[in-house]
Amino acid sequence: MAESIIAGLLRGKLVEAARIVGSEPRADRRAELTAQYGVRMVASNLEAARDADVILLSVKPQTLTKVGHELGGHLRPDQLVVSIVAGANCRVLTNLLDHHEVVRSMPNTPAQIGRGVTVWYATPEVTPLQTDQARVLLRALGTDLQVEDERFVEMATAVSGTGPAYVFLVMEALIDAAVHLGFPRHIAHDLVIETLEGSTAFAKSTAQHPAVLRNMVTSPGGTSAAAIHELESGRLRTVLSEAVWASYRRTVELGADLEKGLGLDEGRPLDTGNGRAADGTASKASTGRQPGR
Ligand SMILES: NC(=O)c1ccc[n+]([C@@H]2O[C@H](COP(=O)([O-])OP(=O)(O)OC[C@H]3O[C@@H](n4cnc5c(N)ncnc54)[C@H](OP(=O)(O)O)[C@@H]3O)[C@@H](O)[C@H]2O)c1
Repeated sequence: MAESIIAGLLRGKLVEAARIVGSEPRADRRAELTAQYGVRMVASNLEAARDADVILLSVKPQTLTKVGHELGGHLRPDQLVVSIVAGANCRVLTNLLDHHEVVRSMPNTPAQIGRGVTVWYATPEVTPLQTDQARVLLRALGTDLQVEDERFVEMATAVSGTGPAYVFLVMEALIDAAVHLGFPRHIAHDLVIETLEGSTAFAKSTAQHPAVLRNMVTSPGGTSAAAIHELESGRLRTVLSEAVWASYRRTVELGADLEKGLGLDEGRPLDTGNGRAADGTASKASTGRQPGR
């Protein structure tokens, strides 16, 4: 993901390569990134962060605490930290780094071709200038949506962050079904990819509700009606909803694990942001404001 951000920043001529410093433990990978993008790569996170205006945290959640301890206490208020680490909430980030100017974001993998969508939240301490810097950085990945309630980032993890995994699974299943019917695999692949891409572009250009578009192709007693009956019998909607909830609970759990590791848990119930605690029991919180309002 960090490489996608570097590529996007350079592609959009938003930052000069000479102004980007990356840290990476493996020497061969450092050499590879310098050769490909002309950016300076170092082994030390502290060295990479020292003179930076914006520090991007793009490590796995299990590596975050180690990296955070290296940086903690060494950051200045004029430095902005942007994290894309799944589950790492602002409470974890600000405590771990001993730093308040933090943006928590959730991109997704189409970011690799500049077609991602990123939902992000800035702590109240983030200045207008830093907000603009975060926006420039995250727009290098595609579309961005700033939200005023951090819980929307958690929810986005389960919808758009994990979303490509749902779509790829559907893609794979449709390709396999087409092969089962008798199509050669490469034709099955192209038919499915073009259908998904065309349907998405059509839905986007007409701005119609998906149910309206679906009804257009569902003739009485026809082929689509027969197929949709099978999908509904197989509980497709319920299964998708359960998958989104499972991903959401896992996001909240990752945050709780990180909080526990830092001694921040204090036994408070985890709020899943939808009036339910992470274990499914009722909690008092509600979703609050809509994204971006
Ligand atoms: N992939 C996604 O779809 C996606 C979407 C949204 C958010 N995210 C979040 O983005 C973050 C990065 O994900 P990713 O898929 O890009 O993972 P990744 O490919 O494993 O990237 C993590 C990078 O961190 C480096 N690293 C490991 N230990 C380090 C250390 N101590 N100091 C500095 N760098 C270190 C790794 O180097 P080595 O390769 O040498 O180990 C690797 O280059 C994760 O927190 C994930 O939750 C990912």
